Amino acid sequence: MQITELDFMEGFIRMATDGCNKGWHERNGGNLTYRLKKSESEQARRFFNEAAPWTLLGAEVPELGGEYFLVTGSGKFFRNIERCPAGNIGLCELDESGGSYRVLWGLDNNAKPTSEFLSHLMNHAAKIKAKGAHYRVIYHCHPSNIIAMTFLLPLNEKVFTRELWEMITECSIVFPDGVGVMAWELCGGLEIAEKSAVLMKNYDVIVWAHHGIFCAGEDFDLTFGLADTVEKAAEIWLKITSANKKKLQTITTNNFIELAEAFGVSLPEKFLE
Ligand code: 13P
Ligand code: ZN
Repeated sequence: MQITELDFMEGFIRMATDGCNKGWHERNGGNLTYRLKKSESEQARRFFNEAAPWTLLGAEVPELGGEYFLVTGSGKFFRNIERCPAGNIGLCELDESGGSYRVLWGLDNNAKPTSEFLSHLMNHAAKIKAKGAHYRVIYHCHPSNIIAMTFLLPLNEKVFTRELWEMITECSIVFPDGVGVMAWELCGGLEIAEKSAVLMKNYDVIVWAHHGIFCAGEDFDLTFGLADTVEKAAEIWLKITSANKKKLQTITTNNFIELAEAFGVSLPEKFLE
């Protein structure tokens, strides 16, 4: 038996592939983490590299000390996960302090966990505290329609929640707490992690303006279904309002400059005026 035949592995890989087939994971867009049950980490143990070195996370998430996570790799394309799991995802252990991790399986050739790993961990912790330990999945994706909505509506939880709820009868049942909404933030940083973790106390799904969905759930089906429902509602909203509207907010010139600095790219001046 291979580690990829374990149920939680198959569920993770299927969810990643389904998200990719939906068109939510262009290039390396999006990331996924799963917190293993004790029985699952025991099943996987014989595949572990117990000599793996520890790496500092950059902050501590003590509530998750000693837990095991399946995680997508930073810069890895979701479309490659099914074909080559070990090169694109990894199984990580947190140390008892919750301040360091090590890769026990996968993330071959020195690949790193997603740049949003800290975001995911802080939000796992927030969700467990708010709702309970049955929450195991954090998922981030880039669906087009919900991103489009963030250019056209005020970035307000009430407005987004009401508009989405009104699009499909079942929406208010699928996400009764509504949706959290966050203004544009630099991706991969501590700030986006902290602000999301505050909203995670009240919402299972957060809309990151001009970026995507960040959501939590008990298992792969519920988490994927949540993102799918929100995105379908957004698609309907966009169809019925198409599209004679002015942007109320967008990614600003300063935001582009910040991005260029953070990611070491050079953007032509003529596009920054
Ligand atoms: P990673 O490739 O580091 O997971 O980043 C993708 C992403 O969508 C960041 O928000
Ligand atoms: Zn993203």
